[in-house]
Amino acid sequence: MSTTENTTGRGTKDVHIGDDSAIAREAVLPAAGGSDPRPLAAPTTSVNPIQRDHATTIFEKSVAGRRAFVAPDAGVPEVALDEIIPAAFRRKAPARLPQVTEPELVRHYVRLSRRNFDLDTGFYPLGSCTMKYNPRLHERVGALPGHARLHPFQTADHAQGALEVMYGLERQLAEVSGLPHVCLQPSAGSHGELAGVLLARAYHEARGEKRTKVLTPDTAHGTNPATVTMAGLEVVKVATNPDGGVDIDDLRAKADEDVALIMLTNPNTLGIFDPNIEEIASIVHGVGGVLYYDGANLNAIMGISRPGDMGFDIVHFNLHKSFTQPHGGGGPGSGPIAVSDRIAPYVPVPVIRREEVPAADGEGTTHRFDLVSDPDRLPDGAPGSKTIGKLRGFQGNYGVFVRCYSYILSLGGSGLKDASEVAVLNANYLLAKLEELGVRKQLPLAFGTRCMHEFVISGGPMKRELGIRTLDLAKRLLDHGFHPPTVYFPLLVEEALLIEPVETEARETLDAFAEALAEILREAGEDPTIAQNAPYSTPVRRLDEAGAAKKPRIRQPIA
Ligand SMILES: Cc1ncc(COP(=O)(O)O)c(C=O)c1O
Repeated sequence: MSTTENTTGRGTKDVHIGDDSAIAREAVLPAAGGSDPRPLAAPTTSVNPIQRDHATTIFEKSVAGRRAFVAPDAGVPEVALDEIIPAAFRRKAPARLPQVTEPELVRHYVRLSRRNFDLDTGFYPLGSCTMKYNPRLHERVGALPGHARLHPFQTADHAQGALEVMYGLERQLAEVSGLPHVCLQPSAGSHGELAGVLLARAYHEARGEKRTKVLTPDTAHGTNPATVTMAGLEVVKVATNPDGGVDIDDLRAKADEDVALIMLTNPNTLGIFDPNIEEIASIVHGVGGVLYYDGANLNAIMGISRPGDMGFDIVHFNLHKSFTQPHGGGGPGSGPIAVSDRIAPYVPVPVIRREEVPAADGEGTTHRFDLVSDPDRLPDGAPGSKTIGKLRGFQGNYGVFVRCYSYILSLGGSGLKDASEVAVLNANYLLAKLEELGVRKQLPLAFGTRCMHEFVISGGPMKRELGIRTLDLAKRLLDHGFHPPTVYFPLLVEEALLIEPVETEARETLDAFAEALAEILREAGEDPTIAQNAPYSTPVRRLDEAGAAKKPRIRQPIA
């Protein structure tokens, strides 16, 4: 993807963004409160139809009587509605649904999808989120009717294939994590965290101990302390040492008999693998605490090192990160947990059991899978035998399990290891490229000299020397066709940018991204207002994100 700019005069500017997008002629408007011109989006030559009807909702398109779908004849005798649903439970008036034709429906949602940034059209180095390419093969497998049309109320006897997939996935994840038992139910990383913290609490309570504290390094993802609070425990922050790892002295000072667990990700959110992990494990185990591994960064270590071998008792996976489930926009995700033998009895039910049964022809045995919710039906010490209860309805997001299972089978153990090695290589290549282009003078690496699968640079010097902030840089990247990295996280780094290039990106893409960063810094040296007012090429510009979160307008006004 190329990016060139050609200033054609004081009043106008041509901006070419990407190979395939139209040239937008921008009007240059006077800056508020100053006489300097600055570019604002006002395309006059090629008006994009996507922009033209941006305000139209599907309800505004509705015309009474239009339909996108007509149900075929059911092929069974009609029954009066009164006979099936009593009048008291029926709507008085039909639901106000939009009435549109199929082409209108398709165009509406395709148009909306194009107003967003997506992984299928551009580089998405959103640190800590592992936005890797999702191979289409897994979509195909997930869409097979036996998977996609399976009803959640199907009995175990009628869902043996699905249970076998889930059981197989449990075994695969056990192998990746180095822990013997897996529970697939949690629907997000943070849901897995909640499950894990509740398990650690149950484990201590069963031994008659009421431990209240959870150690969380100050590099931790925000969901870690939030989870601790939701589980009714107390967050105790642990400092970071100058190398970006856990400050061992601070850990020692805070590790006492009230500590229920430590929540740690390794590599951490600075992209640094903590070489002191064995010492950390021994300090926490020494006071009777449990080690929880936040597996969101597993993409750096699959097939190379295993949390179970590092001394962790509980691990969550983000299947929607390391294992190619498409994500963003709220789901569906999946955050299974793997646990050690001592934690296993407490895992949520139902658990999947594989049982040997006599073969139908009476010759020898075969196996069948069952879902067991009643702890009394489980042998002492088995997963679920002292369960904390149910975590959610049904079994979890089954479609995610199928995609993840096919991803692991298609790569195999050595392929997973390759994926992690290339993820780490790509991150270090990008880091070196930024050095070569001189970008790291104004955007230095926050900790260390190398990284694992991601790295954090600080926009502090850029802000002081060029007058643009990390947010401005991020917004300007959108004009270059790149999704910005994660910004202002981790919190301990001034003006942080957390960059995770992932293994599925080609070298040319990494080069182009590095060049875009260099170009934005160069441009800011000449005129910082360009970045300060970016983006110019997106359907909407800077948004009031706090306002959108606090006062969302989610209702369609009734006409
Ligand atoms: C390090 C880390 N831990 C936990 C989570 C939480 O995962 P989820 O978003 O699936 O709840 C994330 C998500 O970004 C993360 O990056």
